Amino acid sequence: MTEGLELLALKRIIDLIGTAVHLETTLSNILKVLHETLRMERATLLLLDEETQCLTIKASCGLSEAEELRGVYKPNEGICGQIFQSGSPFVVPDIHSEPQFLNRTGARSSISKTKMSFLGVPVQVNGEPVGVLTVDRLFGMEISFEEDIRFLSVLSTLISQFLTLHKAIQKKEEVLLEENRSLKAKLHNLHDGHYIIGHSKPMQEVFSIISKIAPSSVTALLLGESGTGKELVAHAIHDAGKRKEKAFVKVNCAALPETLLESELFGHERGAFTGAYATRAGRFELADQGTIFLDEIGEMPLSLQAKMLRVLQEKQFERIGGSKTYDVDVRIIAATNVSLEKAVAKGQFRADLYYRLNVVPIILPPLRDRKDDIPLLFNHFLGISNERNAKKLHLTSELLDFLVSYPWPGNVREMQNLVERMVILAEGNKLTLADLTPDILASAGDFNEEVKKLPEENRETTKPARQSLYDIERAEVEAALKRHGWVQVRAARDLGLTPRQMGYRIRKYKLSRYGEY
Ligand SMILES: Nc1ncnc2c1ncn2[C@@H]1O[C@H](COP(=O)(O)OP(=O)(O)OP(=O)(O)O)[C@@H](O)[C@H]1O
Ligand SMILES: [Mg+2]
Repeated sequence: MTEGLELLALKRIIDLIGTAVHLETTLSNILKVLHETLRMERATLLLLDEETQCLTIKASCGLSEAEELRGVYKPNEGICGQIFQSGSPFVVPDIHSEPQFLNRTGARSSISKTKMSFLGVPVQVNGEPVGVLTVDRLFGMEISFEEDIRFLSVLSTLISQFLTLHKAIQKKEEVLLEENRSLKAKLHNLHDGHYIIGHSKPMQEVFSIISKIAPSSVTALLLGESGTGKELVAHAIHDAGKRKEKAFVKVNCAALPETLLESELFGHERGAFTGAYATRAGRFELADQGTIFLDEIGEMPLSLQAKMLRVLQEKQFERIGGSKTYDVDVRIIAATNVSLEKAVAKGQFRADLYYRLNVVPIILPPLRDRKDDIPLLFNHFLGISNERNAKKLHLTSELLDFLVSYPWPGNVREMQNLVERMVILAEGNKLTLADLTPDILASAGDFNEEVKKLPEENRETTKPARQSLYDIERAEVEAALKRHGWVQVRAARDLGLTPRQMGYRIRKYKLSRYGEY
């Protein structure tokens, strides 16, 4: 074998290793180089299988798949076993005159008449044997076994480095995969269909608290202005915890008058009060094993707060008009957009209840305090509205600047509604400042220079050109009220508004069942 050919073979092999993607394929290709460049007949790489503790053909050249499968040796069996155990090369000048030669693969039977020599070198990693590299050569050619062994030893070192590298990469990959899996699981558990958008620092803090408290049943108090995502977070806490498969029951404490609220929460026995025609289980019973979300807890009448405190402390209550004590296992999540501290100071909220609820307060910051989230959220809602309305609208940079500077008094809910309206009404494929609703423009004109440049009619809520937006909401609110016989709570629920927001709109649009007032 000439040195030139050896070098050529090594160069090819190094190239193969350098571009390796798949371990087995690369190893087979390396062995192929031996055959093509150095005219070696057959080549096999046996590696110790960690599970079976047998030397198994990992790659070969010149062997069929069946022959490969047959090539399994115990580490002390035959010549391969000897090379493996001794850690030294071995040469069989003529395999047919060597009794130790097992020919387990059967690959050499067809040319048994020809004289064949066999060479093997150990493959070691950090001095430990991991396998054997063997080649067959036709006997009688001008060969120097020593030269061949030297070359195969170099190759064996390269292979061993390749194996080490591959193992390290594989380990790293496994760690990454595992990390990926657990992150995905976390994300899934945390957001599970609720998609809480936000990468701002305050939202990261919110996410961190959610994941910390979700596994336990600790009471959480969600604090934040209207539309900041309190209900969304309540769902996320429930879904990320062990109660996920159980009920999530929501009660709006501001939606019902006192007696009805008590019955709603704790249930009643038949005849407990006028109109109680049948026994009814309350929301706490329905939420057993699950979560109860007490929205607008600040509106809970004082008289009910003592009963509430008892459920919190003892997990016990009685239905109205009943004497049986019910035990419940519920996680309580409360939310408020009014300051409970102030309510306590004014004597409208029991201090002891406040402290029981305030174990883990989660503050949902208003959108204007996390401007980083504005583009992300807007694009999120734009994507949804685009899809719903089969549009492909993009927003212009001056609109984005405006959105970031706008104070968002209605927070995320306001943005969600705004996007939907803009998408429905927009013509063309861009959303610009001119597409903003007139009430926003009117309120923004004072602080936004770009808005000031817009034609007056765009900013004027009363101008007919843009009055349609105002009209749409007014008509929607009025229609919902009519549908629900002017029961504001129901109409509000229908539109996804809180009763307070409904009240605000009724006043804003001067709506009354007896016509405009
Ligand atoms: N971070 C967010 N990512 C995606 N959507 C959000 C986010 N925050 C709020 N929303 C959406 O905004 C709307 C209002 O949120 P939510 O009802 O949770 O607010 P809230 O704080 O309970 O308001 P209110 O006090 O008026 O009841 C919902 O449709 C919700 O899905
Ligand atoms: Mg809410």
